[in-house]
Amino acid sequence: MQIISVMNYKGGVGKTTVTANLAGELAFRGKKVLLLDMDAQASLTFSFVTPDYWDTDLKESKTIKSWFDCISQGNQTMPLSDLVVRPKRVNKFLSNKNTRGVVDLISSHLGLINVDLELATLLGGANMTQTKRNYIKVHGKLRAEIQSVTSDEYDIVLIDCPPNFDALVKSHAAVQRT
Ligand SMILES: Nc1ncnc2c1ncn2[C@@H]1O[C@H](COP(=O)(O)OP(=O)(O)OP(=O)(O)O)[C@@H](O)[C@H]1O
Ligand SMILES: [Mg+2]
Repeated sequence: MQIISVMNYKGGVGKTTVTANLAGELAFRGKKVLLLDMDAQASLTFSFVTPDYWDTDLKESKTIKSWFDCISQGNQTMPLSDLVVRPKRVNKFLSNKNTRGVVDLISSHLGLINVDLELATLLGGANMTQTKRNYIKVHGKLRAEIQSVTSDEYDIVLIDCPPNFDALVKSHAAVQRT
């Protein structure tokens, strides 16, 4: 299983387009693909599900924001598998083509914008070294969760990142190093 983050500091250069199309093509070739949308703009999410469906079925408790909210609120995180949906339109096309490939999605949420700030408040230590240690704990947890949800079920995880290097993007870099 491979985990690939698509990241670039510059905005509007095609990260999401590459991520979405790569997922489609890999699934078409028979790979089981999990998409993780880590960008609050949620462009990848809305490439695969409609705003209406997101609003009624995902917004409250089935986006990656829900996972980070658990950490911010000091609660036990849910398994990432609880947040996974299988977008119908693209998977219907794949099943018509008789491939074993699938594209699954963990959606994003506009509120992800505030997660960085909430984590900074929660994880800020007495000094930089302490703060870094605290962040690494959260990043390590995300890495472990991604590996546990994906190692059996998926061939590849593609993570669409926002156009910045904030704490969340750095956590993808931590995931990437595994
Ligand atoms: N190869 C391409 N040729 C022409 N237009 C493209 C190409 N790839 C992407 N685009 C267009 O460029 C725009 C930005 O693409 P996209 O949203 O994928 O960029 P992004 O890097 O994810 O942006 P952001 O940094 O805001 O997340 C979109 O309108 C998309 O349709
Ligand atoms: Mg994008």
